[in-house]
Amino acid sequence: MKTIDLDGYRIATVDEGAGDVLLLVHGFPLDHTMWLEQVADLKADYRVVAPDLRGFGNNVEATEPLTMDQHADDLARLLDQLDIDSPVHFCGLSMGGYVAWEFWRRHRDRVRSLLLCDTRAGDDTAEAAEGRLAMAERVLNEGNAFAVDAMLPKLVAPRELNETPRELNETSSVAQRLRQMIEKTSPASIASAQRGMAQRIDAQALLSDIDVPTLVVVGEHDAITTAAEMRDIAQAIPRSTFVEIPAAGHMAPLEEPAAVNRALREFLARA
Ligand code: MLT
Repeated sequence: MKTIDLDGYRIATVDEGAGDVLLLVHGFPLDHTMWLEQVADLKADYRVVAPDLRGFGNNVEATEPLTMDQHADDLARLLDQLDIDSPVHFCGLSMGGYVAWEFWRRHRDRVRSLLLCDTRAGDDTAEAAEGRLAMAERVLNEGNAFAVDAMLPKLVAPRELNETPRELNETSSVAQRLRQMIEKTSPASIASAQRGMAQRIDAQALLSDIDVPTLVVVGEHDAITTAAEMRDIAQAIPRSTFVEIPAAGHMAPLEEPAAVNRALREFLARA
């Protein structure tokens, strides 16, 4: 991993492979390791940049609301520091997709294509925003265990909640990996991220203006951002391709990496 200084705040990032740049932006409350299977496969043909967003993973915790525009601007500065000036393939999952809308709004000349995984374009209902603020308070008072219990059952398809590795050669199950990522994330950063996401702007009006090739990927059993919701996003974006990943939930890239990598590769070859 590299550590890149953005005006005094240090961002840890994977930067591997060579070629056109694929930027992988993780979801909440996770880190770049959710993309390990994509990095391992795609670095053979692309320069894969997979950072920990501000407050997450190996970075210092955040105490102020982590807004989507802050993340988008961090990523633009990260690309500058990595001397990447040609447009990138921007891939974001869930919160990473919220960041993708803001990156498009603020830095669209840097986007060659968009890959949107298990995300949504709408902003929060009043009830959803209240739920985020309540989680922020609770996690600050009670710690991370509450966040793990609240989130894990929604992140994966039910079969993944069995915490034994699915393949004989795996040491951790998908659920164990997610549990470890959430437990590693500081309560302050979880609270800051929830407060930032609660403030995000509705991106639905942007969709018809997105004029780069766009891939929309969703797990068949995604309980947070449903296949129907993602299909609507794909229908609103002119040059989009929609792919549903059988058997997967919200964390499709972790749950069904072979199928997701195939979809990413097929799309990138044409984008
Ligand atoms: C994520 O996976 O990033 C979260 O589900 C996003 C959210 O809380 O809306």
